[in-house]
Amino acid sequence: MTTRVALVTGAAQGIGEAICLRLADEGIDIALLDIPSKQEQLATVADQIAAKGRKTIILPVDVTSEQEVKTSIAKTVEALGSLDIMVANAGIMGPISPMLEVSIEDFRRVQAVNVEGVFFCYKYAAQQMNQQGRGGRIIGAASVAAKRGAPRFTPYTASKFAVRGLTQVAAQEFAPHNITVNAYAPGMVMTSMSALPEDEKLGGHGQGIKKLLGLPADMVLGKPSEVAELVAFLIKPEAQYITGQSVSIDGGMNFD
Ligand SMILES: NC(=O)c1ccc[n+]([C@@H]2O[C@H](COP(=O)([O-])OP(=O)(O)OC[C@H]3O[C@@H](n4cnc5c(N)ncnc54)[C@H](O)[C@@H]3O)[C@@H](O)[C@H]2O)c1
Repeated sequence: MTTRVALVTGAAQGIGEAICLRLADEGIDIALLDIPSKQEQLATVADQIAAKGRKTIILPVDVTSEQEVKTSIAKTVEALGSLDIMVANAGIMGPISPMLEVSIEDFRRVQAVNVEGVFFCYKYAAQQMNQQGRGGRIIGAASVAAKRGAPRFTPYTASKFAVRGLTQVAAQEFAPHNITVNAYAPGMVMTSMSALPEDEKLGGHGQGIKKLLGLPADMVLGKPSEVAELVAFLIKPEAQYITGQSVSIDGGMNFD
């Protein structure tokens, strides 16, 4: 069987890193993309994947650049042979503040990474997969905030609703090419994104955001490896009938 190749954005840490390690266990070679300042972390992830016997390349790239995303896909194909799976995971939370205090600069920055970045990844991945003519899997990072607006998270909520919308459009348009498009919609996952400086005095990781959102202090957080497990399922042949979904993985914070 031909080795499949994935490109994962935001691969240096957190959920992206966990996805890379899990996909390597599935026998997949991986292009690891993150911003240039994360090169050292990317190298560490690459070493771990090499130890699992899989090939990698490192792409120090900002997903807000359309040209760089396009070039990254070309480099992936050149170095690893194809692009079969795109995981548009990179994202930022932006400022936590009431809508009345959100600046347009902050709003646009979050959309640039979380929406435009995902759009570029979906578009150019599908273009490459269409050329290869053997289908593919595209997966994006939505959020619990793609299902229900979270107060004080204006730019983030807007961006994640947009990812859910892009995922639905792409699923329908790319279906004739045998490409499925889905997103994961996590609640609060144990990564640097769910940590706030005030966590320590509130009792630990995630307590600051829980307090802001009125969530119970004893609510358990998800693990990056659990999101990675969902992605590992979505890329299996058996998941071919699942498309256009933003799959909640949130301990029951939302019900579709
Ligand atoms: N952690 C959570 O609770 C949670 C919940 C719901 C959704 N998510 C989503 O999951 C995804 C991964 O989040 P995480 O928790 O691992 O966060 P994280 O902050 O630990 O990791 C995000 C990674 O994305 C990279 N990145 C940011 N901007 C980039 C850009 N412009 N170009 C390339 N790479 C960029 C960062 O450098 C970082 O390595 C994000 O899209 C996030 O919104 C996370």
